[in-house]
Amino acid sequence: MSNNNAIEFKHVKFTYPDSKKAVLKDVNFVVKKGSWTSLIGHNGSGKSTISKLINGLLLPDENSDSKITVLGTNVTAENIWDIREKVGIVFQNPDNQFVGATVGDDVAFGLENRGVPRQEMIKIVRNVLSEVGMLEYIDSEPANLSGGQKQRIAIAGILAVEPQIIILDESTSMLDPSGRKQILKIIIELMKKKQLTVVSITHDIDEANMADSVIVLNDGEIIDQDSPVKIFNKTTMLKQIGLDIPFTNKLILALDKSGVSVPQNLRTKDELKQYLCQLNLKI
Ligand SMILES: Nc1ncnc2c1ncn2[C@@H]1O[C@H](COP(=O)(O)OP(=O)(O)OP(=O)(O)O)[C@@H](O)[C@H]1O
Ligand SMILES: [Mg+2]
Repeated sequence: MSNNNAIEFKHVKFTYPDSKKAVLKDVNFVVKKGSWTSLIGHNGSGKSTISKLINGLLLPDENSDSKITVLGTNVTAENIWDIREKVGIVFQNPDNQFVGATVGDDVAFGLENRGVPRQEMIKIVRNVLSEVGMLEYIDSEPANLSGGQKQRIAIAGILAVEPQIIILDESTSMLDPSGRKQILKIIIELMKKKQLTVVSITHDIDEANMADSVIVLNDGEIIDQDSPVKIFNKTTMLKQIGLDIPFTNKLILALDKSGVSVPQNLRTKDELKQYLCQLNLKI
């Protein structure tokens, strides 16, 4: 395994105990260290199953040649605790993630479990809460917070134990557009500061469009992995498997239909804006 890889899946097969059919058939992909990778696919395509396999909440089918490597360590029953130190998952519903009576207690939970001394714990909790802009809520009850604030606390709780990989499993899907933007901004800043590797599972195509790499999952199989620009240009493929395309690409298609063709290499919102401005279109 290359040292540059944070996550590697090789021929991964997974079947739930009470099911006859494999959910993941032969999944192969690589996530580079320090990158942001988005995983997209329709409901039930196996995205959350993959996220749980990354941190050992689930293990691949026995008697198969499945191999999952996370930061150089094979994910097996023996070392799931090591793996969970390195991988944090933020789930969709923040209400199901709280364990503490106050925001501070909640963020401290993972540290208490690891036997971190109290003084150090207080310092870490304050640090991570300020990183997500929630320090002033340290004594608040989690139940009284907004959805976006709850997700920020969930992220702080994960940051407290200093994982190297963060998985966002539809973590922004219950938030309004501004809450969503705030969370993504925090994650992008943390990525740069702490050299985190991020895997974001999302139905929000515009969120996926921000990634370095996009993995497309369909019925338990990876059908493509490429840069967002290349993936979202494959509009026919995406439509066939029931996925939406980003607003910019929809606009390019609409322009094309009305006789304004946009060059292939211009695919980001800013590039498109610049191009259209200099065209001086008469509307
Ligand atoms: N605990 C379980 N036992 C049996 N089958 C399960 C279990 N959890 C998920 N499945 C099935 O496995 C398949 C993949 O589920 P998974 O949750 O990984 O999909 P997903 O891509 O995350 O979907 P969504 O977009 O709805 O979150 C689905 O068909 C689902 O019904
Ligand atoms: Mg899911």
